[in-house]
Amino acid sequence: MNRVDGKVALISGSARGLGAQTAKVLAAGGAKVVIADILDDLGQQTAAEIGSAAAFVHLDVTSEESWQAAVKFAAEKFGGLHILVNNAGIFRRQTTEETSLADWRLMTAVNLDGVFLGTKSALPVLKTCAAKDPVGCAIVNLSSVAGLVGSASGAPYCMSKGGVRIYTKACAIEFAPYRIRVNSIHPGLIDTDMGRDVIAQMAGPGGTAANNAVRDALISWHPIGRIGVPMDIANGIAFLASDDAAFMTGSELVVDGGVTAQ
Ligand SMILES: NC(=O)c1ccc[n+]([C@@H]2O[C@H](COP(=O)([O-])OP(=O)(O)OC[C@H]3O[C@@H](n4cnc5c(N)ncnc54)[C@H](O)[C@@H]3O)[C@@H](O)[C@H]2O)c1
Repeated sequence: MNRVDGKVALISGSARGLGAQTAKVLAAGGAKVVIADILDDLGQQTAAEIGSAAAFVHLDVTSEESWQAAVKFAAEKFGGLHILVNNAGIFRRQTTEETSLADWRLMTAVNLDGVFLGTKSALPVLKTCAAKDPVGCAIVNLSSVAGLVGSASGAPYCMSKGGVRIYTKACAIEFAPYRIRVNSIHPGLIDTDMGRDVIAQMAGPGGTAANNAVRDALISWHPIGRIGVPMDIANGIAFLASDDAAFMTGSELVVDGGVTAQ
């Protein structure tokens, strides 16, 4: 079990998918978890499934006020904040030619501004808690294989995830004196709502047959012979967030079934 016992974690976009699975893994390891999302009903349901170790707060990651309220909620509810997981994100399959400036700005607002605002809003509490914790505090940012290599039809998403990757490294250096570690994780295709939507967007209007063909092609793209499940990523996030990763900062944990090894 990763060492997160007694810590408090705030996870953006954790009503479902990778964020929800991460909340479950961290809570099982003894952490208190704040589920934060724009999806209020689902977020409350996820928190209820976890039980008294979890609480839900509404969060729109594009809003600084919303972030400040979420951090305050976490600190007041559970007495501090040791782990921030910047997980909320959106995906659109768009080439540069198909992307309007409004599309580009939406991708930037959620996937990049959201990580910056979360980091900036949580920093004062993380600094205070890190000063009292034997190992310090941790931020884990969700990038992607799309933050490591380009793709023919995902320019805005690649831009945002590449930005998350290098912003992580800059923060790692900036926050090292505060004893706050900052790392990124880079999933391959994972079977979540977003993962299924990626397949649907690639398949287009061709129905189940087209969907299955794209899914098979994407399975083949992963040398390990399958796409990922949320637990594959949640375990990686929990490791980076835990004291087991005490000497890791500014690193990128690639959990992609071998996609980027090719
Ligand atoms: N699933 C994949 O294949 C995959 C691969 C690589 C990286 N990722 C990244 O992992 C993260 C989680 O992805 P997922 O697969 O769980 O996606 P998901 O769509 O299943 O879940 C994303 C969550 O983020 C929330 N969210 C979206 N906009 C928000 C906002 N403005 N404020 C607060 N919450 C918001 C959604 O409501 C949702 O609960 C994302 O950053 C994604 O880009 C996913």
